[in-house]
Amino acid sequence: MSPLGIGFAIAKALAKEGASVVVNGRTEQRVNEAVNKLRASGVRGKVEGVAADVGAVGGTDKLTRRFPDTDILVNNAGIFEVKPFEQIDDDDWKRFFEVNVLSGVRLSRHYLAGMKKRN
Ligand SMILES: NC(=O)c1ccc[n+]([C@@H]2O[C@H](COP(=O)([O-])OP(=O)(O)OC[C@H]3O[C@@H](n4cnc5c(N)ncnc54)[C@H](OP(=O)(O)O)[C@@H]3O)[C@@H](O)[C@H]2O)c1
Repeated sequence: MSPLGIGFAIAKALAKEGASVVVNGRTEQRVNEAVNKLRASGVRGKVEGVAADVGAVGGTDKLTRRFPDTDILVNNAGIFEVKPFEQIDDDDWKRFFEVNVLSGVRLSRHYLAGMKKRN
């Protein structure tokens, strides 16, 4: 995969249109890299970032505490590994489910509740 993938492209497109965007990844270094690159590309919207592992409750909590509201949520975080099926153990399945499914469920639940309160 590219070092800055589909999520980066979506953030850039939104910020280009003037939306304030928050980018997320697991490490400060990669998040800062994305934030700096977006800012340097001359987008109109404000660009901020937060390092948090959204595959864990602590990570989604960190993200939603720092940025409690949003108008648009992009559930982009996703992982996979190329591995023979018989070698994928329960811990692998649980990790994929946490990152690929529950991260989006938890964030959607939080931001949808906030949106309903505001409207
Ligand atoms: N590329 C394709 O052809 C394709 C096709 C179908 C679906 N998709 C889906 O589209 C999404 C984006 O794809 P992509 O190709 O752009 O993938 P990518 O380049 O691997 O980007 C995935 C992003 O998710 C972040 N991420 C991974 N685990 C995370 C976690 N636990 N917490 C926070 N951030 C996390 C990664 O950031 P860090 O590594 O910095 O944490 C990375 O920026 C994925 O969900 C993928 O499954 C892609």
